[in-house]
Amino acid sequence: MGEIVVGISGASGAIYGKRLVEYLRSKDIPVRLVVTNAGEITLKHECDTTKEAIAEATGALLEDDRNIGAKSASGSANIDAVVLCPCSGTTLGKLGAGIGDNLITRSAIVALKERRKLILVPREAPYATVHLENMHKLSQWGAIVIPASPGFYNHPKTIDDMVDFVVARILDHIGLEHNVGTRWTGEEIP
Ligand SMILES: Cc1cc2nc3c(=O)[nH]c(=O)nc-3n(C[C@H](O)[C@H](O)[C@H](O)COP(=O)(O)O)c2cc1C
Repeated sequence: MGEIVVGISGASGAIYGKRLVEYLRSKDIPVRLVVTNAGEITLKHECDTTKEAIAEATGALLEDDRNIGAKSASGSANIDAVVLCPCSGTTLGKLGAGIGDNLITRSAIVALKERRKLILVPREAPYATVHLENMHKLSQWGAIVIPASPGFYNHPKTIDDMVDFVVARILDHIGLEHNVGTRWTGEEIP
């Protein structure tokens, strides 16, 4: 398996990105972690942590969002998927306009041009029409849009259960076998 780029931008829900990195690294999957300035703020505010702490705890390779020449944005690198988790409306807007002006957006644009897997995990409520239009556009261009909206049919008991619901869908779409969350069997409703 190649590397996975995980980008944490400044939408609420930094915990999803943190959990994704922790899970991937627990399976020894190489991760390049890129966090925007706003992502650093939400990581601190919502998870009381930093990108450096996550990288140190998990062994993820931390890249600088300002370093447009980093490997995450290389078209020739062996990168299997780029996951922006969470993906802010601002980052969605840039991608919808083809703008790759920082490492996180450039990595996503490169994923589109190289036909790599691009997974976007937006969170906003309500969505503005511009957010919906950008999601529609990006979905048509091949991105997979997984909203940060956990389901309740598996009866989550904790915040971690709800986070895992979303992370499990991301892992499915990266193409990894995993045991995160609970799968619907079809026998839950008599
Ligand atoms: C505490 C906090 C929560 C935020 N939540 C959201 C959100 O849920 N969705 C969103 O699109 N933007 C949210 N924002 C705004 C983004 O951080 C802002 O648009 C920023 O420009 C995003 O930049 P980035 O895409 O480079 O990370 C939030 C900002 C803060 C400080």
